[in-house]
Amino acid sequence: MIPNDFIQTLLSRVDIVEVIDPHVPLKKAGANYAACCPFHSEKSPSFTVSPTKQFYHCFGCGAHGTAIGFLMEYSGMSFPEAVGDLARGAGLEVPRITASGSEVRREEAEDLSGLMLEAAKMYRSGLKDSPRAIEYLKQRGLTGAIAAHFGIGYAADDWQPLAALPGYADKAVETAGLVITGEGGKRYDRFRDRIMFPIHDGGGRVIGFGGRILDKGEPKYLNSPETPLFSKGRELYGLFQARQAIRAAGRVVVVEGYMDVVALAQHGVEYAVATLGTATTPVHAQKLIRLADTVVFCFDGDAAGRRAAWRALENTLAVLADGKNARFLFLPDGEDPDDYVRKRGKEAFEALVDEAMPLSDFLLTELAQRHPPRSAEGRAALVNAAKPLLAQITAPVLATLLRRRLAELAGLRESEMTMLLPQERAASAPSARPRPQRAAPSLLRGLLQCVLLEPDLTRRFEVPEPAGAGAEGDALAALVAHCRAGAPPLTTAGVLQRFAGSPHENALIAALTTGEIEGLAGELLEVQLVEGIKRYWLNAQKHGDSAASRHAPMLELSPEEAERARQRRLARQPPAGSA
Ligand code: UTP
Ligand code: MN
Repeated sequence: MIPNDFIQTLLSRVDIVEVIDPHVPLKKAGANYAACCPFHSEKSPSFTVSPTKQFYHCFGCGAHGTAIGFLMEYSGMSFPEAVGDLARGAGLEVPRITASGSEVRREEAEDLSGLMLEAAKMYRSGLKDSPRAIEYLKQRGLTGAIAAHFGIGYAADDWQPLAALPGYADKAVETAGLVITGEGGKRYDRFRDRIMFPIHDGGGRVIGFGGRILDKGEPKYLNSPETPLFSKGRELYGLFQARQAIRAAGRVVVVEGYMDVVALAQHGVEYAVATLGTATTPVHAQKLIRLADTVVFCFDGDAAGRRAAWRALENTLAVLADGKNARFLFLPDGEDPDDYVRKRGKEAFEALVDEAMPLSDFLLTELAQRHPPRSAEGRAALVNAAKPLLAQITAPVLATLLRRRLAELAGLRESEMTMLLPQERAASAPSARPRPQRAAPSLLRGLLQCVLLEPDLTRRFEVPEPAGAGAEGDALAALVAHCRAGAPPLTTAGVLQRFAGSPHENALIAALTTGEIEGLAGELLEVQLVEGIKRYWLNAQKHGDSAASRHAPMLELSPEEAERARQRRLARQPPAGSA
């Protein structure tokens, strides 16, 4: 775990403009910077970067975040990777909470990544020295350029192909999964006489290998074991190489094998990645959905392929958002993508990708196949099987459409279906507490803006925490609680990062991106806050909220504050009757 304090410090040291500009050249536009959005295709720039808020936002597609968030979305880095990257640039050392020896683990990981890089180099030169391995790759249709692009190498037919690796006798080489100590303490290489595929993380570091046997033999593929660097349930093969192409295409194809990724790239389909001999995990799904609007899972058309596809579906439901698509492509005749693209070429493969089955179709056809809705019992089983799946979907429009189609399939009215499968979100929202009061949304939004822009004001002013009063109220309550608990000074970017991915994120972003808040700073900001708080409690009292009378006395403004507020009011001349 990286301590939250450090994230705050880091975000106050880096400049988001400098972080983004090398990737997406920015142009000054008033107080902000602008560019065409790198996360969707557009002709006129709606991507803005605010140096004061240290945050980016696209008015076209809604992408937004801090410098950390940008690196995660743009470069596909994980959170720790992005933090590490920025910290290196800012000359800061990332501290760790060492609850489970994770500090040791990190230091270890750092050492190991140097070793892995050296090993990858040795395997690459091993390939140059082996006409047999080169011949194998040629015969599989690969050019030298593509082999180099993926860093493909060869581990010699020998007990210790890496013997010349610096520190070969060290324990670290074993921890990295490169060497195995056999009975009697004899050390030998894990990978021998295999074509070597280096696996990179989002930042391009080598974290593992997959090795394919040249001839027949078992196992066909040998992978790095789980190490401090490498966890195959989190990584995707080829992601590092595919990132640009994924962004350009707006979609990513997920295949099963190393060779599928490489062969597709060889034929010009450069936006493919592979899971590493595992089913698609929720971590994979999350990563993929962040990368592109459309994720196409590609599987063999046989029973095993459909089972694997179903696993992918189950792990994708929870991370889908409206506007994001997951699709399923089943290849004919037990061919894999490598066979298919070699035989039929890029256009034919992409035609299949274009027509891949939407997640909703796959979900419903598969369910209907398992529980044919031909009898009342069958339809009941169908609805029951659908229930836990639909409950996971948080994308509101998708959930509603699926519910409707399920109703049709099960021969139920939509109202009946709604009773059977209530909208989980709404039903289980933690709103057991009584609603304190209703307030005009603009009022809560104004308070959100002030606290977001100047989080430390929460120490000096009694900002209401109206949990239960809708999304903005909940967000404000969480925000205020967070700011009070944190160590000052807090920054806008730091607070946003803290809430990234939380249910409150949308309300916070909306507050920051609507209305005129550019000039809002210093005293003006304080005055707006004080006014907002006052109006809030007045409003609450008007609605007969007893909590309001308890809190309101605390709101007494100091004479200076009251005077400032008065002047501010005069200056602004608010339209009559605005509450
Ligand atoms: P496949 O058996 O479908 O092989 O394994 P493939 O990708 O078609 O490979 P080629 O074309 O024969 O070279 C798909 C993936 O499953 C994992 C690997 O990640 C492989 O790419 N796998 C397979 C293993 O990890 N170990 C194995 O022994 C076999
Ligand atoms: Mn294959």
